Amino acid sequence: MIEIKNLHKQFGNLEVLKGIDLTVNRGEVLSIIGASGSGKSTLLYCINGLESIQAGDITIDDIRVHDPKTDLNKLRQKLGMVFQQWNSFPHLTALENVALAPRIVKGKSKTEATEKAIEQLRHVGLESKINSYPSALSGGQQQRLAIARALAMEPEVMLFDEATSALDPELVGEVLDTMRMLASEGMTMICVTHEMSFARDVSDRVAYFHQGIMEEIGPPEQLFNNPQSAHTRNFLSKVR
Ligand SMILES: Nc1ncnc2c1ncn2[C@@H]1O[C@H](COP(=O)(O)OP(=O)(O)O)[C@@H](O)[C@H]1O
Ligand SMILES: [Mg+2]
Repeated sequence: MIEIKNLHKQFGNLEVLKGIDLTVNRGEVLSIIGASGSGKSTLLYCINGLESIQAGDITIDDIRVHDPKTDLNKLRQKLGMVFQQWNSFPHLTALENVALAPRIVKGKSKTEATEKAIEQLRHVGLESKINSYPSALSGGQQQRLAIARALAMEPEVMLFDEATSALDPELVGEVLDTMRMLASEGMTMICVTHEMSFARDVSDRVAYFHQGIMEEIGPPEQLFNNPQSAHTRNFLSKVR
């Protein structure tokens, strides 16, 4: 579904992605791990066309992301993204936050968008918070609201960029559980994460990034139990 070929990305003279080759299949859950600064977030931004690239190609369902002829707004409807800290609109309730984009971007009627939003909020366990404002939600609930907002656009792929990193430890579990649920429903997911147990338990494959290179990729058992690269072994010994 997503095919990345020889992707090169630079910021000025700084080479951040040095020739990434990666295919993600429909329904697959890929976790990306690696040290800070290794290019993980940049990869996600390249995938949804938020960043330009210097060489290579990214295609989603055979649509080339960086082809000037590609309608990025349309392409991005296939992609849901959840960041470390997503600030939902503070003046809108949870329900209004989730219903907003389907109304504006997809032109859905108020009734349809509202019904769908209630369904999405129920799905992430926020049905009791439908009329709450974001400021009245815990960090974990806000992240689940962010997931509901992304899901309301009916994406084909969900990109998560350290969705739990800004949370108090006791709130991490509920967000990971929501991500786990999506994975079990067959959602295609790319999850940049520091949660090694999530990566191990939920992913079909785990990729380790090191200084702009995808150093190693494989099933979690292989990557965690029998890493092939010294860099991967070194990283894992530090995070465990
Ligand atoms: N907009 C930008 N301008 C210049 N340098 C950037 C920009 N975004 C990221 N970088 C640099 O690119 C490298 C990779 O960053 P990033 O993709 O955020 O890494 P990670 O998500 O793995 O921590 C870092 O050295 C970072 O400082
Ligand atoms: Mg990052």
